[in-house]
Amino acid sequence: MKTILITGSSSGFGLETARYFLERDWRVLATMRTPQLDLLPPSRNLQVLQLDVTDLQSVHRAIEAAGPIDVVVNNAGFGAPSPFELTSMEAVRALFETNTFGTMAVTQAVLPQMRERQSGVIINVTSSVTYKPLPLVGVYRAAKAAVNAFSESLASEVAQFGIRVHMVLPGSSGETRFRETARTRLQGMDNAIYGDYMKRTIARMAESTGPGTQSKDVAEAVWRAANDDSAPLRIPAGADALQWASEAG
Ligand SMILES: NC(=O)c1ccc[n+]([C@@H]2O[C@H](COP(=O)([O-])OP(=O)(O)OC[C@H]3O[C@@H](n4cnc5c(N)ncnc54)[C@H](OP(=O)(O)O)[C@@H]3O)[C@@H](O)[C@H]2O)c1
Repeated sequence: MKTILITGSSSGFGLETARYFLERDWRVLATMRTPQLDLLPPSRNLQVLQLDVTDLQSVHRAIEAAGPIDVVVNNAGFGAPSPFELTSMEAVRALFETNTFGTMAVTQAVLPQMRERQSGVIINVTSSVTYKPLPLVGVYRAAKAAVNAFSESLASEVAQFGIRVHMVLPGSSGETRFRETARTRLQGMDNAIYGDYMKRTIARMAESTGPGTQSKDVAEAVWRAANDDSAPLRIPAGADALQWASEAG
């Protein structure tokens, strides 16, 4: 039986991916900042572990408790739209701390055991916003684009140890807590210089929303990355992500 460890399993894509793999008889290590035992159906193949990707001790504790891991999914993340001029450096650092450095910390903690076993798969959930220069999300895009660049180099570096690295790039999804979290972190709507621009831009983005991405699209993309040796490095997940990927060429 294979083992998958997923960060940010308390909701959204992470929770759906945990459910998807459990249903297919994998051992699932569902990690969460604040462990909740009742989110997933009870199963002897399920273990819920505490893991905050911004806390190195918590990362190492979870990886040690996990034992052998075949697949790790760096899914924990959040977005916080605001005009760059109004984005505090604290907010910039927080976005990188979770989306970028968190991914790197978990990856670094799991690499030694994968290298020793000469096998493993690292799957980094980034975003299809990295395909498009959208306004108001520059720092989030930069944090995810940094993970894309990191993943590409790492893939070349660790292929010699039988380790694969993939990026899953979801499109926009209303099914998860992502938008709610982003709304609570939104800055600048009342600002005299940027406020009206923000309202217009956000209204336009809402109008142009097409079919979007379902949590299942992401779980399926992770499944493909985990199981298919010939899966591409970048896997867009969701109809909108596929569209943006094809437009980007
Ligand atoms: N939804 C979208 O439109 C969209 C599009 C493209 C990419 N993405 C990416 O997809 C991933 C999953 O997002 P989602 O849409 O499923 O949103 P979500 O429902 O808000 O889930 C985010 C998860 O990340 C966890 N998390 C946040 N900070 C963490 C930390 N420091 N340590 C560990 N876990 C942490 C959250 O845990 P708590 O419960 O503790 O907050 C939650 O479980 C993110 O990386 C996001 O950037 C989302």
